[in-house]
Amino acid sequence: MKKYLTHHEWQIIENGFHAEHNRISESVFSIGNGRMGQRANFEESYTGDTLQGSYVAGVYYPDKTRVGWWKNGYPEYFAKVLNACNWIGIEVKINETVLDLAKSDVTDFKRTLDMQRGILQRQFTAKLETSEQVKVDATRFCSLADDEAGAIRYAIQCDFSGELTLTPYLDFDIKNEDANYDEKFWEEVELAVHKGEGYITAATRKTDFRVCTGMCFDIFVNDKNVTPDIEIFRKEKFISNTVKLKVNEGDEVVIYKYAVNLSSENHPKDALSNNADKLLQNIRQKGFQTMLKEQMAAWATRWKDSDVVIEGDVAAQQGIRFNIFQLNQTYTGEDERLNIGPKGFTGEKYGGSTYWDTEAYCLPFYLSTADERVARNLLIYRYKHLQKAIENAEKLGFKDGAALYPMVTMNGEECHNEWEITFEEIHRNGAIAYAIFDYIRYTGDKAYLADYGLEVLIGIARFWAQRVNYSNQKGKYVILGVTGPNEYENNVNNNWYTNFTAKKCLELAMESIEWVKKNCPEKYKAIVRQINFDETEEQAQWQQICDHIYQPKYQEFGIYLQQDGFLDKDISPVDDLEEADRPLCQKWSWDRILRSCYIKQADVLQGLYFYEHEFDEATIRRNFDFYEPLTVHESSLSPCVHAILAARLGYHDKAYEMYLQTARLDLDDYNNDTEDGCHITSMAGTWMAVVKGFGGMRVVDGKLHLNPFLPKQWTGYSFKIRWRGSILNIKVTQAETTVENESGESVSLVLSGKLTEIGGKTS
Ligand code: BGC
Repeated sequence: MKKYLTHHEWQIIENGFHAEHNRISESVFSIGNGRMGQRANFEESYTGDTLQGSYVAGVYYPDKTRVGWWKNGYPEYFAKVLNACNWIGIEVKINETVLDLAKSDVTDFKRTLDMQRGILQRQFTAKLETSEQVKVDATRFCSLADDEAGAIRYAIQCDFSGELTLTPYLDFDIKNEDANYDEKFWEEVELAVHKGEGYITAATRKTDFRVCTGMCFDIFVNDKNVTPDIEIFRKEKFISNTVKLKVNEGDEVVIYKYAVNLSSENHPKDALSNNADKLLQNIRQKGFQTMLKEQMAAWATRWKDSDVVIEGDVAAQQGIRFNIFQLNQTYTGEDERLNIGPKGFTGEKYGGSTYWDTEAYCLPFYLSTADERVARNLLIYRYKHLQKAIENAEKLGFKDGAALYPMVTMNGEECHNEWEITFEEIHRNGAIAYAIFDYIRYTGDKAYLADYGLEVLIGIARFWAQRVNYSNQKGKYVILGVTGPNEYENNVNNNWYTNFTAKKCLELAMESIEWVKKNCPEKYKAIVRQINFDETEEQAQWQQICDHIYQPKYQEFGIYLQQDGFLDKDISPVDDLEEADRPLCQKWSWDRILRSCYIKQADVLQGLYFYEHEFDEATIRRNFDFYEPLTVHESSLSPCVHAILAARLGYHDKAYEMYLQTARLDLDDYNNDTEDGCHITSMAGTWMAVVKGFGGMRVVDGKLHLNPFLPKQWTGYSFKIRWRGSILNIKVTQAETTVENESGESVSLVLSGKLTEIGGKTS
């Protein structure tokens, strides 16, 4: 746990340079716009510890995997989110010395992530070993308005007289730190450098994605635009322009650097450099100030719809805003080919882009805070990968259109290979079906089923129908050899969560078939033909499985059993563990973890959270009381589920404790791993802990329910949600809860158990 960042409602602030935490700060202060992202690396040279990271959405490399023992069915590669061209670089030389904070005496350092405006700022004074001094004030952002562009204003106040040399550059000769074979993934395709601008187009090896990065710049001395002599330089995958300026003490030199990153995902390969040139000229013409204004306006719109205000607790306010900010930086919903990686644009770890995290955790955030199209695009992403999911299942021996979605993917293909996850964490299929259910429950958009959802649900149902087997001994269908969400148990039989979600998938598929058949008969017929669906036979089998699937329970305690053998374990609460044993994943052998009763993340409770409406409160309470004390929450995805259930059960202190574990997870480096990147997908969990946990938001039978309470640590809070065409602003204080309807039509909802009509602005 680290506490070096200053609390502030709208900003993340590092006061004083914490070189020892630089990688953490580089993650936390990352900026992005859904299309590109950038860790908070320095513009000037830095020889201290750093993880350079510039990312372009949708571009990946299929790195050859490293495994000890190859197993049939493993995918050939692990997709890597790629570190791309360094577009921020500006080398600064003062007389003969390169400015490098690792070699200077640094004072008045301040790094600020201004979340309200979507910009990163940095100020410092650096005294070089050669005793010259400069004051730097740098601002940069990834533009939301021009989402292939970034801009930098880098101002240098000279406390010396002599020569200042500025070298803005593009460096495509970069690596991924997590490359399995230490290879470089980019090859140069085209490179051009002129006075004042330059471009590099590079291609990824194997996948042949092309990215063209371009830069241009303007220099001002004491507010006057200067056109100095420029020395151009090029070498493989690298270009630069060098400008030498004679400066006097007190002069202020400002360089505006504009950069663009265009990828072949969005432009024809042969038009990349032309289009990059056009965009670059366009943004340069607009200028930094205009771009900044557009940036502020775009972020103001984002905040208008998605802000959560917390009163009486600045740390909590900063935490929730940081989470919302990062989510909005990572995914904008503009492009249905993109998704939300566990680290977003803030680091390399986890490779790939999409985990079950999107469906299980992120969808609700986008459903409630953005246009319906955004959540729909997340679902369509999986629809488009259906064929690959079928191929993925075929590789494992399934047939006839059974679909197994991948655990980790960039393009629909599985790209993760640890047998206990790739082959066994099949519960991921359940989350994909659940997301369709959740989307329709929230939006009422049943037509989605006929357009896209039904095919996915049938593919998933077919998978479960083949994956179960009938146990003569139990007289039930069982699911053997799985890993549930709790990755601290592998190859278990009858993980309740997996069995239960399998049943829900089958039921959902059958209900959806009924609906599409009745309401869109022509579309239904077309689907049946296309996927060769034997309506009677397949559904009869599914029904049979639903009626007889084994759901392990321990009657005496009235709880669902996490898996058949769970009660054979030595059961003792997490509280009895020594501090020195935590986190288990770092302190214990895998053997010891697997045999222990400790649960990495919500498992039975995950199922109760998803399908809460099917369980009475007493059942949820018994299971919560049993499993919560055994859960170590060593996945950042865990505490939010516990927070939501705890709130529902009236365990308000527990709910708040769980909320705190995610809200400031990265800001306080709670798990000692923020240096790898931020936990983007769990950030949606923080939002859920507030809105579904403290706010008690649920949708039951097409009606919105709110059942708020105020954590005693706060004096009030408010959040906005979009609900079926209206925007509702919910404010909770000690005295009351008010719901303001910001749009036209009136809305009826159930507020703290009472049916209430909230008039619209015009009604
Ligand atoms: C969790 C998984 C999750 C992955 C990516 C793991 O630690 O156990 O459930 O999908 O992280 O966030």
